[in-house]
Amino acid sequence: MVLSKAQLVIIGRTRTDAFLPDRAANVRIACTIPGMSDHYKGVTLWFTGLSQSGKTTTAQLVAQKLRARGVDRLETLDGDIVRLGISRGLGFSREDRDENIRRVTLVAQLLTRNDVVTIVSAISPYREARDMARAMIGNFAEIHTKASLETCAARDTKGLYAKAMAGDLLEFTGVNDPYEAPENPELVLDTEHGTADENADRVLAWMELHGFLAPQLATAEA
Ligand SMILES: Nc1ncnc2c1ncn2[C@@H]1O[C@H](COP(=O)(O)OP(=O)(O)OP(=O)(O)O)[C@@H](O)[C@H]1O
Ligand SMILES: [Mg+2]
Repeated sequence: MVLSKAQLVIIGRTRTDAFLPDRAANVRIACTIPGMSDHYKGVTLWFTGLSQSGKTTTAQLVAQKLRARGVDRLETLDGDIVRLGISRGLGFSREDRDENIRRVTLVAQLLTRNDVVTIVSAISPYREARDMARAMIGNFAEIHTKASLETCAARDTKGLYAKAMAGDLLEFTGVNDPYEAPENPELVLDTEHGTADENADRVLAWMELHGFLAPQLATAEA
């Protein structure tokens, strides 16, 4: 592929690079995509899955890899953090879960339309609420982090499966509350057999394939 100078952008320079002579700076070269003002554009990557299925872990790795690719308009909305902030006080009834997702959707919509790559990680157990998010946001990928209930319960980093299975915690997704798996997600990430690193790479590959992230052409010493 022959690229004009205008199509080439240099990304990934750090603050430290700025103080180094040009030839010492490590630069990565990417191309812009027609219709893109930058080498990436706004999209919401919506991670859904059972508790402990690997949403936060994979989402954080995706964010890290994107930042390393020069994606500097990037925001993460993690279920645990959201429930301490904009959704503080909401519980886990269907009504409250829907309200939680409605709020997250509104924020993700604003960010995405301002060309921010927005990474949501929330159990978001109801198909209808996720479909609503898709319809409102537009540039959207539903990403199902998939692991069996047994695997998730064995991970149990928060001790919540143990409590729910003992009957001490009600409305816990997968145990005594429903999880409606996506029917046509953009990606299914198997977190039992695939590593978080492989899965995160699949997300970036999806973004490249669908024009949300320009492919990285080369790494060069300037
Ligand atoms: N392949 C994998 N991908 C992601 N996480 C994994 C994987 N294998 C094991 N884990 C582990 O699973 C545990 C739960 O992951 P994580 O906290 O990301 O889940 P979660 O879906 O965000 O859960 P919650 O909804 O409770 O916040 C972590 O300790 C993580 O390291
Ligand atoms: Mg999490």
